[in-house]
Amino acid sequence: MTDETDWQGWRRTARLLVLAGIEPAELTWSVGGRTDPLPDADGSFQLPRALVELASVAIQARQPDRFGLLYSLVWRAHHGEKLLDDDQDPDLSLARRMALAVRADAHRMRTLVRFMPVRDDAGQRFLGWFAPAHFVLPANAQLMARRFPDQLWSIATPDGSAHWDGTRLLFGSGPRQVEDDATLVAWWDAHRAQVLDSAVEGTSIPMAEALDEAPRPPNRAALGPVVVRFAPDPGLEGAAKEAWACERCSLYGPATQPVFGEGPAGATVMFLGEQPGDQEDTIGRPFVGPAGQMMDRAMEEAGIDRRTVYVTNAVKHFKFTPRGKRRIHQTPETPEIRACDFWLDVERVHVKPRLLVLMGATAARAVLRRAVTISRERGRPIPMEDGQTVFVTVHPSYLLRIPDAAAKAREYAAFVADLKTVRGLMEAG
Ligand code: URA
Repeated sequence: MTDETDWQGWRRTARLLVLAGIEPAELTWSVGGRTDPLPDADGSFQLPRALVELASVAIQARQPDRFGLLYSLVWRAHHGEKLLDDDQDPDLSLARRMALAVRADAHRMRTLVRFMPVRDDAGQRFLGWFAPAHFVLPANAQLMARRFPDQLWSIATPDGSAHWDGTRLLFGSGPRQVEDDATLVAWWDAHRAQVLDSAVEGTSIPMAEALDEAPRPPNRAALGPVVVRFAPDPGLEGAAKEAWACERCSLYGPATQPVFGEGPAGATVMFLGEQPGDQEDTIGRPFVGPAGQMMDRAMEEAGIDRRTVYVTNAVKHFKFTPRGKRRIHQTPETPEIRACDFWLDVERVHVKPRLLVLMGATAARAVLRRAVTISRERGRPIPMEDGQTVFVTVHPSYLLRIPDAAAKAREYAAFVADLKTVRGLMEAG
């Protein structure tokens, strides 16, 4: 494979190997290494379209074993297994989880990258930065190029950078780490000529259309200059690792993983939800599923940049009951909330937020240590003895559950209004 998302290379190689009868266990896949000569094999074979589509997304996952996993699915499908019908198949489930994680990351890239204008020889260009969890840059950049052909833009990531020059999409090297706007601009000024000169055209990965929302237009700087600070605190990172061994309550058993908070150390505001949902449990990041997308939209309307706040949950493991193939959310009980105080305290000590936004009854109960009627206490700052301020509002998944469209719009507007008050409190200092 020539690069991490060498889709055509993987497809061609997989086809030749399957036709030559090479078993999955005989292969080691790598990127950019020396390869044994490929077998000479003639012909082609059909695969279910859904499997090819799944592979084209899952191949963008960061897991190094994805090429082999996808090859073994292709191998089995070619040998007559109807594996797409078997939801219990561990390899298929793993590939589907990878694809889900890629889609969530693509969504984050489309909604979180903010661009700032810079000038170079070609004129004004919009420059953005993102640190993707997976290899989502090439597919997303194609979508951006199609949607915004009239502006020049560049997106830098630690995996590389993408550049639209008005007619061609080029891919080059990227900065290892970017701490703030100034570091990004300094990297661009120092490396622009060399990056653009050695950049190569095109990518073979299919365009990212799996999510139907549009990417952010490059000239949109509604929230002011780009804020890219996302320095994880070493103490928080260590705690997030330790949480993998947490057995303080029984929720760790059925859950896939603990989902720790995310955001800059030293954030002024901490947003607190209840517990990870199905997608968060799979992906390992808070608020990336439907409730997270609702929250992102409301934050954006309220003028809050999600990357500047710390987002976490009162309970770090997903509590659910299995029903058929689905995992149905269950509200955590007080002992589970209390058991997880430990991790929330770790986060509060490290982040030291001035303001805690408690979204929903579980978050409010976790911090205020009493039952809270949201409608009675929402929308105003409540000072606490330790000097912090809390602010109660609804949980975004409450909005998702309202069946009546007019009521939903009303409640959503009230949520945005609450978040605007939060923004005012953030700015008041
Ligand atoms: N609901 C939550 O409370 N937290 C999440 O992370 C996702 C859904």
